[in-house]
Order: sequence, then structure tokens, then C-alpha cells
Amino acid sequence: LCHMQYIPGFGNECASEDPRCPGALPEGQNNPQVCPYNLYAEQLSGSAFTCPRSTNKRSWLYRILPSVCHKPFESIDQGHVTHNWDEVDPDPNQLRWKPFEIPKASQKKVDFVSGLHTLCGAGDIRSNNGLAIHIFLCNTSMGNRCFYNSDGDFLIVPQKGKLLIYTEFGKMLVQPNEICVIQRGMRFSIDVFEETRGYILEVYGVHFELPDLGPIGANGLANPRDFLIPVAWYEDRQVPGGYTVINKYQGKLFAAKQNVSPFNVVAWHGNYTPYKYNLENFMVINSVAFDHADPSIFTVLTAKSVRPGVAVADFVIFPPRWGVADKTFRPPYYHRNCMSEFMGLIKGHYEAKQGEFLPGGGSLHSSMTPHGPDADCFEKASKAKLAPERIADGTMAFMFESSLSMAVTKWGLKSSSCLDENYYKCWEPLKSHFTPDSRKPRSAGKG
Ligand SMILES: [Fe+2]
Repeated sequence: LCHMQYIPGFGNECASEDPRCPGALPEGQNNPQVCPYNLYAEQLSGSAFTCPRSTNKRSWLYRILPSVCHKPFESIDQGHVTHNWDEVDPDPNQLRWKPFEIPKASQKKVDFVSGLHTLCGAGDIRSNNGLAIHIFLCNTSMGNRCFYNSDGDFLIVPQKGKLLIYTEFGKMLVQPNEICVIQRGMRFSIDVFEETRGYILEVYGVHFELPDLGPIGANGLANPRDFLIPVAWYEDRQVPGGYTVINKYQGKLFAAKQNVSPFNVVAWHGNYTPYKYNLENFMVINSVAFDHADPSIFTVLTAKSVRPGVAVADFVIFPPRWGVADKTFRPPYYHRNCMSEFMGLIKGHYEAKQGEFLPGGGSLHSSMTPHGPDADCFEKASKAKLAPERIADGTMAFMFESSLSMAVTKWGLKSSSCLDENYYKCWEPLKSHFTPDSRKPRSAGKG
């Protein structure tokens, strides 16, 4: 696992051959009459053929058998995967979840796919507009099962336990504090090594991009070279008992059997690939004088909508950093937002909530639902001496922020049994500090 190789760079045109088969990529063309090593050529299109070059995504895979060699797909048990946003009535309250419980391997073996639980979401899969947030809770490797999503891209945030991900493009090891993106249609299978938990942001019909930097300049935030793409790796493995390919299609799960491992791509080239990123590499920019930059300054990746500046979803992190702002209430400000904010915690303690917001749990502040620091945080930060201080050391909180107004699933509100009924109480002790008698003439100094 220590020797895994990657190609650095975000969204590049790459080419990779398994070193066991040098020259496996055809030279000068994509579709020779006969491919080197007698492989099959297969294109995977991640954008319409006619997209402008800046958004055109496709890869060519050279494989032992084409993906079409499978028995028919049949509907399988959905488990807790859903795209029904009307399961329960809307709930505008601040919602917070205790850490989602991982099933014990000794009681029930659950892999990544059977451990998918949809928490909330919005939009419509069939018109390619929307998103879903899933929690994965598993304890077993997928073995002779792989998964692909016809509906959208998965941004996977492991929180507990590392993921060894086999993809058609090669292998990736993704540990907590790293993330990976597996785009629409890419087949993958995940090995886990312990009771494992994490978060998934699924976006329909769009791909993640690096945010524009504007006046920040050419460098900063997530730098393109820190994104890592796997290198070609294949197995020519017959599976007589049957290999199962699971497909999420229009929100439902289907399975098909085939006789071989799908990880039979000997070489590939293109710009449509899975990738991973270590959150430690995020170059944090923030206020060095007074007041707050808005949290968009912490955006790692964005999935844009067709409206300028409005995301279907942003992936935002709150990394360790210095707090230096003078004459400023330094914790996050009180806020009401037209966007919906789901937060999760990979490790540590989030600065605005020291109490019950725990690693592996989450919170949702929906469109225009007020939120902000709890009473304890407000009192402390209002009196704190404003010396430079470290913030969030040992911590990584993140946000999935969406312009869509998300519905919570029945699992999220009820069957997970993780909803914290007392969340609203963290703001109850906030009291008025209003002192009308302390009014001073402006010239006497700033109040
Ligand atoms: Fe907010």
C-alpha cells in the first residue's frame, strides 16, 4: 500500500500503461483495427461529445474485454439508498446528528454499497440537476462486487478507516483527511480494513471543478498539482462464480453478473478519471486585519450550476490555521443563508460548537434557517484577548453547501436514530446584552 503511484494534476490529459504491457496505448490514433496486445478499445464519455473544450471530458480505455460483456441487470434491494425527497414532511429546524453508527462485523457483514444511507438531497436525477448526501457505514470489503453510478459523481470523504479503491483506471488508497472523486460511470470496488464510516456528496449531471481564484491570483486554495490520479493497473481474473456489477440508475440499484473482473484495463488515456486529494495540502487564505472572509474562501471543489456564481454544491473545509483578526468576533458569525449547509466532522472539535458536534456526525442548516455559535462560544469569544492563536489544530470540519433546498430522508430523521433532539438548546442560554444607557456621542469614541 505504501508503493501506490499516482499522476499529479487536476483535470489533465493523462496517459497510463500498466508496466507489464509497455506499448499498450495505440500510437497516433484511438481505434486501430487491431489494438496492441489484442485489447478492446472503449471510450468513456463524461460530457456531451459537443461540450466546449474547457468542459469536454472523456477517456479511452484499452481492456481485455469490453464492459458490455455482462448478463442483464436486475433490480436489487435498495437498502437505504433513495432519491425520494417526499418520504417525510419538510422540516426547517436546525438538525444535528450524533455519530452515525457503524454495524459490527461480528453481527452483520456490510460493504460500501450495502452500507450506503441517503441522508438528504434535492433535485431530479432524470433531468441531471440536483444532489444527494449519503453516509456510508461498512465493515467488509466488496470482494467480487463493483459499483458504478449512472446518475452523478461521488465525492467521498472517509472519516474512519481507510479505503483501498480499485477503479478501472488503477488503485487509490484514500485515508481520513483525504477525499476522492469517482465520476459518473466509473466502476470501482472498495476494500476496507476496519469498521469504516464516511460522507458522500453526490452531484447529478455536473462535475467538480476547482473554484476560480479571482484577485487571489494564480495560486492558492487547493492547488491543481496536489490532485492525484491513479496509474493503469489490470487483473486478468476469471470469476467462475460470477462477478457482480452494481449500478445506481435513476436512483435505483441494479445488479448484473459477469465472468471476469471489471478491472481489466491495461492502459488508458484521457481527462476523465477518478482522483484524490489530501486536505492537508489546502493553502488557507483568510483575514489578516479585521472581520471575516466568507467561508467560500475555504472552497476545495465546486460543482457549478448554470447560474453564474451559484453552485449545485461546494465542498468547503475548515482547516487548521491562524486566527489573527483584530477588533473582531472571531468564531463564525450568526447567519441565515439562502444556501443549505450540511456540515460534517472528520476529526477534532469544530470551533463554533465544542459540545455535541462530533466526528462522524453532522448538522444541516437549511435555507434561511438561522445558525451560529452556541452560547458558551459567544460568551468566551466576546471576552477573549485577541492575540494570534491557532484555530482547529487536530481538527477537520467540512461543509457541503448547496443552492438547492434539501429534503431529509426518513432514515435521516427517524430510522438512523441519530438525530439529536436537543440541538436547539445550545442557543437557548444566549441572553440579551443590550445596554441602551451606555450610549455615547460618536465623537467620544467608537462603541
Ligand atoms: Fe452558515
